[in-house]
Amino acid sequence: MTSVGSGRHASIPDAERLVAAVLERSTGKHSSIHGESHWQRVAAAGLALLPETLGADPALVFLFALFHDSMRLNDSHDPLHGPRGAALARELRGGAFDIGDTATELLALACDEHTNGGVSSDPTVGVCWDADRLNLWRVGIRPDPRFLSTEAARSGERILWARDLQREHFAWEKLYRRFGIR
Ligand SMILES: [Fe+2]
Ligand SMILES: [Fe+2]
Repeated sequence: MTSVGSGRHASIPDAERLVAAVLERSTGKHSSIHGESHWQRVAAAGLALLPETLGADPALVFLFALFHDSMRLNDSHDPLHGPRGAALARELRGGAFDIGDTATELLALACDEHTNGGVSSDPTVGVCWDADRLNLWRVGIRPDPRFLSTEAARSGERILWARDLQREHFAWEKLYRRFGIR
């Protein structure tokens, strides 16, 4: 299993504290569509894509799952929730987690642009966006391979797998273990 510990510049010494800090600040955590259980399922989908996506940074995928929808104000039109999630990540960086400047820019880009429908040739950003889009089943939308960035996500098998993801619950503890953080 890919481990966050091998991430180039990432340090998440206390994942429980980090998640608690995000939950404390989050405006959208209780939403059944974009709230905490969605963040956990994005992390779980990211875990499935990481081993098949060379060069993707597991720590950034975990951080994207945690931050990208953390600052949503509603479940409909909220075009600036990505940038607000990125701003929270910048604010908490250096406390509950630490990543280098380049990694911070990449995480911010992934959060800022995740709602714009684009695809990315960067493996980390691709895994982040695909992990989010594979979870579109929760709102009755079958993920369209044309809007998926990675080979790992585009397979028909993976897209169907993601449908069943919606029935599962992923506890943070289990996700920390699978990402290799604590
Ligand atoms: Fe979002
Ligand atoms: Fe999302």
